Order: sequence, then structure tokens, then C-alpha cells
Amino acid sequence: MTQYGVLLLVLIFASLGLSAFAIFISISRYRRNHPRASALPGSGEDVATEAARKVLREFEKNGQSVDAALVTWSPDTLRKILADELPDAQVIVVSNREPYIHNETKDGGVELVVPASGLVSALEPITRACAGTWIAYGGGSADQTVVDRNDRVQVPPGHPSYTLRRVWLSDEEYQGYYLGFANEGLWPLCHIAFTRPIFRESDWEAYEAVNRKFADTVVAEARNERPIVLVQDYHFALLPRMIRERLPEAIVITFWHIPWPNSEVFSICPWRERILDGLLGSSIVGFHTQYHANNFTESVDRFMESRIERADAAISYGGQVTLVHSYPISIEWPVELLKALPNIEECRVRVRKRFRIPAGAKLCVGVERLDYTKGILDRFHALEELFIRHPEMVGKVVFLQVAAPSRGTLPAYKQLHEECLRCAEELNQRYGSDSYQPVVMVAEHHSQAAVYELYRAADICLVTSLHDGMNLVAKEFVASRDDEQGVLLLSTFAGASRELLEALIVNPYDAAMMSEAMLQALTMGPDEQRERMRRMREIVRDNNVYRWAGSMLLDAARLRKRGDLDRVTALYERPNAPTGDNVVSMFERKQAVGFR
Ligand code: G6P
Repeated sequence: MTQYGVLLLVLIFASLGLSAFAIFISISRYRRNHPRASALPGSGEDVATEAARKVLREFEKNGQSVDAALVTWSPDTLRKILADELPDAQVIVVSNREPYIHNETKDGGVELVVPASGLVSALEPITRACAGTWIAYGGGSADQTVVDRNDRVQVPPGHPSYTLRRVWLSDEEYQGYYLGFANEGLWPLCHIAFTRPIFRESDWEAYEAVNRKFADTVVAEARNERPIVLVQDYHFALLPRMIRERLPEAIVITFWHIPWPNSEVFSICPWRERILDGLLGSSIVGFHTQYHANNFTESVDRFMESRIERADAAISYGGQVTLVHSYPISIEWPVELLKALPNIEECRVRVRKRFRIPAGAKLCVGVERLDYTKGILDRFHALEELFIRHPEMVGKVVFLQVAAPSRGTLPAYKQLHEECLRCAEELNQRYGSDSYQPVVMVAEHHSQAAVYELYRAADICLVTSLHDGMNLVAKEFVASRDDEQGVLLLSTFAGASRELLEALIVNPYDAAMMSEAMLQALTMGPDEQRERMRRMREIVRDNNVYRWAGSMLLDAARLRKRGDLDRVTALYERPNAPTGDNVVSMFERKQAVGFR
């Protein structure tokens, strides 16, 4: 080889070495800057970094630590938070609706029902992960026969992982507390659906008595003085204060699953101060959206002698501090029951056969409780508007409405049921034929598996609530579509519309606009569907229910540490307390722990 040849070889090897070094440096730098990219399953790197950056920004905005943001949220994460940050803490969940209802069957057996409740779908995987105790009203006809002598039953059946403690209510209690004050008073008060709230003194008394009954049960179930009690929803506004009085060292996290109205609307409640006082017994009060958290703070500001620290999202009242935060609720990810469901094509075939959907007609589904806040009638109006504006769509779309009967003895719910049936019939008469019915209305409870099968069979899912805290149907639909197809029409008045921006966002009060959105959904090509669905799936995956609960538990851990340090510091603030280095370091520790 000549001298030039040797030189050429040296140059080639040198440049190869330099390129390899440059690639190595870029990869290391990328890994350093995007530590979570490889942890996100099934996504491209760009998507992963975008998701990580988004979570990071949100956490930084809330003053939370970056480490928390980089967590992949799962049952293990929750268990780790509990073990590391809240060792030995007993988690107690309190809700009105129980996660499993035992009912008698006609042949004398017992059937198990999982109720249609967003609260239950969200809390169930969390309680499983925490192996806690769930206290709820035992409303099933066979509930009493399956409990032990302490009114407890281990659930889920077949794989017991936590204790369900049932509380029994008399007919009068149920009528006054649940149907009356909670569902004829607070429910319409908190939702802008133009149904007038009804307040009766006797309902209020029953509400107070039942809250006290649940407080007694929490105290009875607590293994020590410092449990973490997760109080759920508008059935228990007085419970946090009652727990605080009897277990002063408990951490009480209250989550309000429905909207909170502005202070003007809230002011019509005759017991507004008592409700606020009750809730301010909580260590943390959580809402789905910042808007509802702000409304709550405004109500406290207007009606209570309190100090509001807006920068810290904290309210000082009666010598105690309550944090008021938003924690958007979600669903488990991945959804466990999807594993047992058939593939999308089979789901389509089965559902279309069961409901006799003609070939060539696209399937729109609506799934929820039969409730006047859900905008079911507004969907019927939008469908009619679609047929008027685009007559060529008659015969090309079927709207399947599955509505689980709910609170059915109340006049507002009975009236809605009748109107829905009438409206569906009118549409079928006007636009249907022997072989085509544009509306199929099924007012029956469906199992979770059957609901997921519907989601997977649908071309379009309609979530058109007039007002909704979050709405988990929207998130469940997205989670069910591993084929990345299907279009979501989502009300701008549901909390979910703050997160699922790639849905077709609609105003349910505007039938013309909704009908155009339906047309857009019916004619959307597979590529656009995929792009929208993929993005929404990333959001639901990253902001899953474990993150919801984990964020609250991390905040609870900060509060507990702060409280513990306060107690230790108080020792040092006594006369004759030790002086010198110890006191300084204690002071510094207290400063360092802080909370947002
Ligand atoms: C909403 C409420 C829940 C309730 C659910 C079902 O999601 O926020 O607290 O459980 O509706 O209503 P029901 O009255 O049947 O429990």
C-alpha cells in the first residue's frame, strides 16, 4: 500500500470514529433530556417526549416536584407512594354507592351487579391497589345475607383484595338523605341543567343523621388515630368535619365528583354555611377542574370568616388549613376487562346483530345513567336536525342509546324517561321504515363488559352532557379503541373536554351545530380518526386514575410530614425547651418540607 493509501485509510477510520462519537453524544444527551421516553409503551419517541414535557410543565406549574411528573402511574406506583411516603397508613374510602351490589335473583340465588357510576369505576382500581377498606351504603336486596357479623365482605369476588364495609339505612333515611337532600337538592344545585333544586328541612335532618352514621363507621373501622380517609362526593358534605372532630390526626381528602356552582347559585342553599363548614373539616378538597375549585373558594370567601391564600390554594378556617386543588379523575390504564373482550370486528358483528343495525348504517352510541344532566334529549334533537338539513343521511345512521335507570322514583327522572321514549318513537315513526329504525333506546342496566363491547362496535360515541364534573364515558370510549378508530363527540360542558381536545367539541344546546358535528363524524376518514384517537389515547394513558389518586396521596404525605414537624417544633417552642443546634436544624427541616 502506498503512503497515500495509508493516509486515506487513516482518514476514513478517523471520520467513522468521529461520526460514531457524535452519534453516541447525541443519544446520551437525548436520554438525559428525555428520561421517560423509553418508558412509554407503544409510542414514538416524539410522542413520548411531548407527553413527558406536558406532564412536566403541569407539575412545575403546580409547584410539584419534577420526579413526580416523570412517574409512569400504575398500581405499583400507588403502592410505592403509600409504602415510602405514608408508611403504615390505613386507607379508608367512603362513598354512598358501593362498588359491588348483591341482589337476590328470582330463582333464589344471588347476582352481583357493578353499578353505573363514574365514581365507582374510578375508585375501584385504586382501593384494590391500596388494599384499603371501602365504606358504603348496602342497598342490594341480598347485601345483608353475604356480609360477616361485622357487616364486612371481601371483594372483588374471586380475587378478594379489599374489605367492603356496608352501612344500612332505613327507608326514611334513604328517602331524606339520598333521594331528597343529595339528589333533589345538591345534585340540581351543582349542575347547570335548569332543574330547580328542592330543599326540605326533613331531608336536611336525614342527611345530617346519615353523615353522622358514616362518621361512626369510619371511627369504628380506623385501626389507629391517623388513617387516610378518602371521602367521596356530595352525599357527604358534613362528614369531613365529623371525622376531624373525632380523629383529629386523620388526613381527610374529600373529592367532589360533580361541578361546584358559582357563589350566587350556591347561596340559594338554606344550609350553605353548614355545608362549607363540613367540607372545611377536610385536609384537602378536590375537584375535577380548576374552575370548580375556584367556585368553591369564592363561596367560602363570600360566606365564611376565613383567610384565603390564593397563591397556595389554601383556606385557613377555624385554626385549620384546607387545600383546595383540582385533580382530574380518570380510569385505569390499561383497562383490565379489555383483555377478555373479542376483537373489534367481532364486537361490531355481535352488537349490530343484537340491535339489528342495517348494513350500510353507521352506529352512534350514547351510554350513561338516565339523567337529565346528560343531554340525552338534546341528542335526539340533533339527530332530527341532521335529517332535516341532510335528508340523504336518513337510513345511513342509527343512534343506539343505552340508559341505565337511575333515581327512578324522583319525578324529574320519571319525566325524563317518558320524554326519551316518546321522542325516540316519534323519530322512528317520522324517519323509519320496516327495515330501518333510526333510534334504538334501551333503558336497562348493562354490565361493564357489555358497555365496552358497545364502545368497540361504535363508529361514533356521543357524550353531550349539559353539565358534568368529568364524564368517564368519554375516557372509557377512548380506552376501548385499541384500533385507533371511532369518533368522539364531546360536550364543552363536561370536564373531559379540557383534556380530550381532539374530540369534536360541541355545545349540546345548539342542535344545528351538533348535527353538523355528527355529519363531520359520519364522514371522517380513517386517517383523521386515527390521528385524533391516538392523541386522546396518550392523554388517557398518561393521566390515568393512578395519577389522580397518586397526586392526592403525595399531597397528603406532604401535609402529614408538615403536621408531624409542626408537632415536634411545638415541643421546642415550649419554655425550657432545648436550645442551640437542634432547634435550628428542626426549624430548617420545617422550612424545607413545606407544601404547595
Ligand atoms: C354520579 C355521582 C356519583 C354517583 C353516580 C351514580 O357519578 O357523582 O356519586 O354514584 O352518579 O348515581 P347513583 O345515584 O346511582 O349512585
